[in-house]
Amino acid sequence: MTTNNTTLPDIEQLTRLANQLFTALPCDGSLLNAGVHAASPQATTAAAESGKLTQLASLAERHIEPPVETAELNKLLANYGTVSRSSAPSNTLTTAPSFYFLDAAQQQQALSTVELTVKSASQTLSPQSAATADLDKVTGLSSLAGQHVELPAETLELHKLLASHATVNRSGIPSNPVAETAANPTFYFLDAQQHPHRDLNTLGLVSSHAAFDVHAVRRDFPILRERVNGQPLAWLDNAATTQKPQVVIDRISEFYSHENSNIHRAAHELAARATDAYEKARKTVANFLHASSPEEIVFVRGSTEAINLVAKSWGQQNIGKDDEIVITWLEHHANIVPWKQLCDVTGAVLRVAPVDDNGQVLLDEYTRLLNPRTKLVSFTQVSNALGTITPAQEMIELAHRVGAKVLLDAAQSVSHLSVDVQALNCDWLVFSGHKIFGPTGIGVLYGKAEILEATQPWQGGGNMIEDVTFERIIYQPAPARFEAGTGNIADAVGLGTALEYLQRIGVPNVARYEHELLGYAIEALRGINGLRLIGTAAEKTSVLSFVLKGHSTEDVGAALNKAGIAVRSGHHCAQPILRRFGLESTVRPSLAFYNTYEEIDRLVSVVRQVQAGQIGFY
Ligand code: ALA
Repeated sequence: MTTNNTTLPDIEQLTRLANQLFTALPCDGSLLNAGVHAASPQATTAAAESGKLTQLASLAERHIEPPVETAELNKLLANYGTVSRSSAPSNTLTTAPSFYFLDAAQQQQALSTVELTVKSASQTLSPQSAATADLDKVTGLSSLAGQHVELPAETLELHKLLASHATVNRSGIPSNPVAETAANPTFYFLDAQQHPHRDLNTLGLVSSHAAFDVHAVRRDFPILRERVNGQPLAWLDNAATTQKPQVVIDRISEFYSHENSNIHRAAHELAARATDAYEKARKTVANFLHASSPEEIVFVRGSTEAINLVAKSWGQQNIGKDDEIVITWLEHHANIVPWKQLCDVTGAVLRVAPVDDNGQVLLDEYTRLLNPRTKLVSFTQVSNALGTITPAQEMIELAHRVGAKVLLDAAQSVSHLSVDVQALNCDWLVFSGHKIFGPTGIGVLYGKAEILEATQPWQGGGNMIEDVTFERIIYQPAPARFEAGTGNIADAVGLGTALEYLQRIGVPNVARYEHELLGYAIEALRGINGLRLIGTAAEKTSVLSFVLKGHSTEDVGAALNKAGIAVRSGHHCAQPILRRFGLESTVRPSLAFYNTYEEIDRLVSVVRQVQAGQIGFY
């Protein structure tokens, strides 16, 4: 069932208006001229033109970062301190202006013009003359610094349409779900095929990180503008949970504002909207995991509930005395406790595959554990405590050879690596929404259709039945039979939006960027005396567990917190693997694609100070 489109704006009209505005964009650097050369003969024309650019920047709600050559301009802005910035100016060459509202050709033209203009500005403007520029001139640079300005009168028509129907949010994506169902308008800037950073890459203006502009994506996450203890927040606790982009926050708000209803149960309009939104999210998850069909996707509370579901339904129905369950030493408690409980109830035996000193599974040992009594193998694709990427495909194949079923815990992998359940050939896969930029309290169990169909439900109630009498109960087919009661509808919808957001950025782009960032961080931390990295597998991602000689993990965590840097210190709900390394706890910075080299530098600097005794007890 689809939602009613009659109240939609005329998308063609909206598109035409937007494109008129975008093509009116001056690509002659006049905004800079307005700010820097206001006293020159071109000033009047330039000032008029600059208005348009500023207005357009506001429309797109995007910020244009000053390139590295604009040191003078940055100083000028800092002197006046009146122009708000959503993020600190970047000093790295990786940052190029982000003209989200331009197509590739316009972008190229605008970029080269801005570059030339800024160069000429920096040649002609001395610090002294900058210091004496008046405030009006400085604010002429406001769009460069990311200031939002009011829409002008001539764009009122567009403004009204946008306000009443589809707010163009920070990612340039119409947040109104009804509008989202319309055909892609041409101002839908972030289409993966048209992402401007690809074009920046070909211009050679950015380094090897070019396919992915960290400063652009950071603006999608409002919480990253927080300050903690007077310092900019550096969120390096992504293995515990990830932050949420504005599109996800907006989507949940939209759901409660326009769609909220229980699902699958009523004939009214809102029930239809809510059901559509929920089932669309299921399709998005299926697409994200490359499942064969949405019916293979069960919404649950998170990875923990998903594993418990399999243990308490399939496990209790298929595992018996002396059967064997194989896990690894890397597992999170959520992938240990349910299996140990199952063994205690059934008399099955838990076997644990060991890891080497780098924290990688010993494949020979693992293979030796597999035998015809092995009914189930359950292991993580990425260790939450060490970051090890296990050889999942090979391990699954080996388990299948002895007839075992395999559950893959992807809680720590889906936000960092491309995951394809058909290629992996796992029987189940679990992940949590909150670790992949979605809401808390929602997660996913993927199961092969034939296995889900052959499995009895673990919880009974409404929504999961087809017919009930006092004599017998007929269950719904999967996935509904595993979704008893009213589920977390809004957050399932939010999770769908988070996955779409990540797909637009591109998981391969994320993986590439994070790989380089992780390599940089490892090298920097390795240079600190007394620091021992835990988890040094050749294949690893996103996690930097360490201990620092002479300092408790709590003290290091507290020192980092004082500097605005969030990390987890403790056992990370993975005590067996830490004990394998003789430890009860580590400090665990963990990365996501919105982390920066500058944040790594800050981390390393504070740890160095702790190590040198320059930071005392907290
Ligand atoms: N599993 C989460 C972590 O690793 C909570 O921190």
